[in-house]
Amino acid sequence: MRVDIVSIFPEYFAPLDLSLIGKARANGTLRLAVHDLRTWTHDVHRTVDDTPYGGGPGMVMRPEPWGEALDALAPGELSPDGHTLPRLLVPSPAGVPFTQALAHELAAESHLLFACGRYEGIDQRVLDHAATRMPVTEVSLGDYVLFGGEVAVLVILEAVTRLLPGVLGNAGSLDEESHAHGLLEAPLYTKPASWRGLDVPEVLRSGDHARIDRWRRDESLLRTAARRPDMIGALNPETLDKRDRAT
Ligand code: ADE
Repeated sequence: MRVDIVSIFPEYFAPLDLSLIGKARANGTLRLAVHDLRTWTHDVHRTVDDTPYGGGPGMVMRPEPWGEALDALAPGELSPDGHTLPRLLVPSPAGVPFTQALAHELAAESHLLFACGRYEGIDQRVLDHAATRMPVTEVSLGDYVLFGGEVAVLVILEAVTRLLPGVLGNAGSLDEESHAHGLLEAPLYTKPASWRGLDVPEVLRSGDHARIDRWRRDESLLRTAARRPDMIGALNPETLDKRDRAT
């Protein structure tokens, strides 16, 4: 997968050299480049923002540098000419919620282009113009406001990269983790069996895999009901068995 990130703070992305994302970059699974938006400014102050039309607090990112950045990183028109245009992702608290389902959708793309807004956001015409040539999605991490899109891109990239084939050593973990089946994952334990007077639940040491599966399913259901009743409401009733209903 190819990924381009445009930001006025390229230094934010130093952690992308580390850990499994760093490894995915080193082995070519992820071809990632970070670009400084100010590359596409032409005044001595390398200006990227200005006051909002209509008044209001803060500053808005001017369209010209963004237009040039997107022209450079996504050249071509929306046409079946064999030239693949990226999917443009713009982190914003006004975007659609970022979910595991969207992470899976993005993991299937060949080229993602992230535009990191700062200040109050990017002039809307940048997104409207880009949308005439490529798919554009504004994405929100949650119902709170960050200083800018950089941290959101780190989060989105981490969620997407671990879904790429070959990135996780044990792909089975993708099947069992929280959100894989619309439920939160059950609690996890490792050695020692007893620690500070707290014992690992007996069932997990029993070797009885049917009983362990059932225990994990019950714990998932109880945890999800307590912490995320919205997820219980969204479960497909056909995926529930009799014991689930009793839990
Ligand atoms: N930029 C500012 N706040 C954000 C949020 N909640 N999600 C994504 N990008 C943002």
